This record gives sequence, C-alpha cells and structure tokens, in this order.
Amino acid sequence: MKKRPLVVVTRRLPDVVETRMRELFDTRLNLDDKPMSAAELVEAAKSADVLVPTVTDEIDASILAQAGPDLKLVANFGNGVDNIDVQAALARGITVTNTPGVLTEDTADMTMALILAVARRLAEGTRVIPEEDWAGWSPTWMLGHRITGKRLGIVGMGRIGQALARRAKAFGLSIHYHNRRHVAPAIEAELEATYWESLDQMLARMDVVSVNCPHTPATYHLLSARRLKLLKPSAIVVNTARGEIIDENSLARLIETGDIAGAGLDVFEHEPAVNPRFLKLARQGKVVLLPHMASATFEGRIDMGEKVIVNIKTFMDGHRPPDRVLPSML
Ligand code: 8YV
Repeated sequence: MKKRPLVVVTRRLPDVVETRMRELFDTRLNLDDKPMSAAELVEAAKSADVLVPTVTDEIDASILAQAGPDLKLVANFGNGVDNIDVQAALARGITVTNTPGVLTEDTADMTMALILAVARRLAEGTRVIPEEDWAGWSPTWMLGHRITGKRLGIVGMGRIGQALARRAKAFGLSIHYHNRRHVAPAIEAELEATYWESLDQMLARMDVVSVNCPHTPATYHLLSARRLKLLKPSAIVVNTARGEIIDENSLARLIETGDIAGAGLDVFEHEPAVNPRFLKLARQGKVVLLPHMASATFEGRIDMGEKVIVNIKTFMDGHRPPDRVLPSML
C-alpha cells in the first residue's frame, strides 16, 4: 500500500481543517503560526510530497529549484496564486491548485462595505464617540456622498467582480466593467452591465472604481499613474484584490492633491508594510485601510481548507484535482 503523503502546511488553519488533514495525511503543521523563512520553506519543499502555502509564503523559482523529488503538488490555501511561481512549478512537473469560489461572497461583501465606508465616512464616524469628540448633531457635519445613482466601474469581472456587481446594483449603482472579454450575455443582462473594452475610457467616467482582477504580470500597476490621472476628482477607488495592481504612490499623491477623492484599501503591495502616505491620509479620513481581511470569515476559511483537502486527496488518488491552476489562467 502506498505510504500516506507528507503534507507540510505553512500556517495555522482552522482546527477542523487541521484535524481532518491529520486523519487523511501524514501532516506537518505550523502550530505557532509564525510565517516561515525562505530557508524553512526550502526545508519544507525538500521533504514534502505536498506543500500547502498561503499568501504570506513566497514560493519562488529558487525555492522550487531546491525542492525534493517527492514534491508533486503545491496546494495553495488561497485564491490568488501570485505568491507562487506557477510556471517554474509546472516546468518541474509540480501541479499547483488554489481555492476559488469559496471566498467570493465574503470578499464582495467587504468590497461593498469599503465603498460605503469611504463614501459615507464610516471609519471617521466610528472614531467620534469612543474619542468623546461628539458635540452633537449639526445639519452640515459629517456629510458624505450618496452612492445610489452613481457609476461603479469594476476592473476584472470574474466571480468576485460579478458578486460585487449584484450587491452594487441592489444599492442603486449602475454597473460598468472592464475585462479581457465580455461576461455571458445572460449575466450582462441580469446586471444591466456596460462593457468597456477600453479601461482608460471607463476610468474617466466612473464615480467608484473597484479592482477585482488577479495580480499577474499583465495586471501589475494596471492602475498606473497615467490611468489614475484619468479619474474624476470626485472618484473613489477600492481594492480588495492585490496591492500590486495599483501604483500606490501615484494613488496616494493624487488623493493628497485632491485629484482623486478617496480610497478603500484591503491589500497593499508590500504587506504587512503599508505606504506611510496612506497612514496619513487615513488619519485625515480620506482613505479607509483594512488589514487584508476581505475574505476573513470562519465559514470561508473552513471552506478553503476543505478545498485544499479535496485537491490533495484527488491528486493523491491519481486524478486531476478540481482546482488546478493552468498556464492560461496566468
Ligand atoms: C486569503 C486572498 O486570505 O485567497 C486570496 O487570494 O487574498 C485572501 O483572501 C489568502 O490568500 C490566504 O492565503
């Protein structure tokens, strides 16, 4: 009988997920949850049959080049795979899987929350009472902007983009999107969504811009300085995808100069470090910052763990895992 695969998990996962993994596999857990160093990741890749990394682990070509002969699967606990050099993995015959679908609704909820938070000054408002700073109601105090009737431009109309569109439509925003291709006509009709082939043209006309595409070489700084300058001065930008998709320095500068009204950011290019200009803007109430928590629900994390387990199990049983990452997806 084939030995149980050695599965190395880089971070703590929900108890039920870890328990199930131990039942099924020879599992090495990271009980103190300290992110692994590059040297520890190399060690893990040398001994494991299956590596289960997260967004905080950079599985680059150098780590993969030092992997042992048994490493055949990198089963990412996460949807985005920009932490993994997928081409290098595939070139070495290592399969890569991810966890799509199960964090769609949670991420879309938080994106909607960020749109509201920025437009309606939610973060500023929640500070007033605990800081004992409330002198009482006034007709012209704490005014934000109505979102109903405004135009939302979604950059990347995949699962999360569409889930956001459904919510935003219910809040009375009109839906616009830029994507590599049109979504299915039935979905476009349901969302009453307008497709913009030109990202530049869409950006110039939106009140709210939401980034919902994956981070790939093609989307790095997609919202470049030049493109951000196309936005209306009243526009707000939200990002629950990846920090790398926006030129953060340019975004901060344009908010500082009043050329963009504000931003709601859940992700940053150099996490956990955050551009200090954003900290200052957050204190001024112009940006709302969240610590990469758009998908952080108990339910979502358990579902992600189940996906990882199904991917490993299917692979080990000699079948194609359901969430294989293919070169065409990069
Ligand atoms: C996850 C995410 O928390 O899945 C993703 O792509 O960005 C996050 O929401 C993270 O990736 C876990 O590895």
